[in-house]
Amino acid sequence: MTAFKDLNRFIDYCRAKASYKNKMASIFGLTLKEVSMLYEEIDKSEFLNQILLKAGQRKSFFNFSMSCVLRAPTLYCLCRIVRPETVVETGVADGFSSSFILEALKKNNKGKLYSIDLPNQPDQELKQGRVTGWLIPDDLKKNWSLLIGSSRDKLPDLLSRLKKIDIFYHDSDHSYENMIFEFNEAIPFVRKAGLIVSDDITDNNAFRDFCYLGKYTSISLFKLGVIRKK
Ligand SMILES: C[S@@+](CC[C@H](N)C(=O)[O-])C[C@H]1O[C@@H](n2cnc3c(N)ncnc32)[C@H](O)[C@@H]1O
Repeated sequence: MTAFKDLNRFIDYCRAKASYKNKMASIFGLTLKEVSMLYEEIDKSEFLNQILLKAGQRKSFFNFSMSCVLRAPTLYCLCRIVRPETVVETGVADGFSSSFILEALKKNNKGKLYSIDLPNQPDQELKQGRVTGWLIPDDLKKNWSLLIGSSRDKLPDLLSRLKKIDIFYHDSDHSYENMIFEFNEAIPFVRKAGLIVSDDITDNNAFRDFCYLGKYTSISLFKLGVIRKK
């Protein structure tokens, strides 16, 4: 029974991965082979082994939710394709997404990640006794800057200080109001052909409404939404 369930899950995973690759290729005008090579790069990396070990996970998709297992490698691939100078992220928690972004920046040999998260709170998803971003490997931290506070307080100042950004990634408070607030704040600062990326776009209509009102075309990779600014 377990084997059967796992087989179904494996088939779902393969289908999802093929669809992610196709959509990524289409939005960036790349070949499937070029996108596949990037997923392979991260899948076979020593970094992935190390981060999973640190997180207490096995290298297996069975341990993750479907969105999680493809989300972080996809963030890696997006950063490898766009080769950003500046990435801004809201919502760090353990630092899973931050780690994959920073690993891509390291591989690109350029770029900085600015992250915003609230002060640690007792009810946070963070593992007990851990600090925000504890998963991030030490050697990647030199390209990382963490601002503690709400995105409403910190994001406007950060963006005006940075002036232009290449990628904005939302994964903080997924309320409709906050998502719309962050997208509206970020979009004027995103350079042409830069990205707005959002996790959990299926939680509400914020991402869909934002795209519709701004006439932005987007792709959705399960719960992850990607807008490439024209
Ligand atoms: C889903 S977790 C982030 C997961 C992370 N991106 C990862 O992949 O490991 C959401 C985080 O958003 C933070 N958060 C919630 N509301 C926020 C706000 N208004 N401003 C900034 N951060 C917020 C929480 O403290 C929490 O750490």
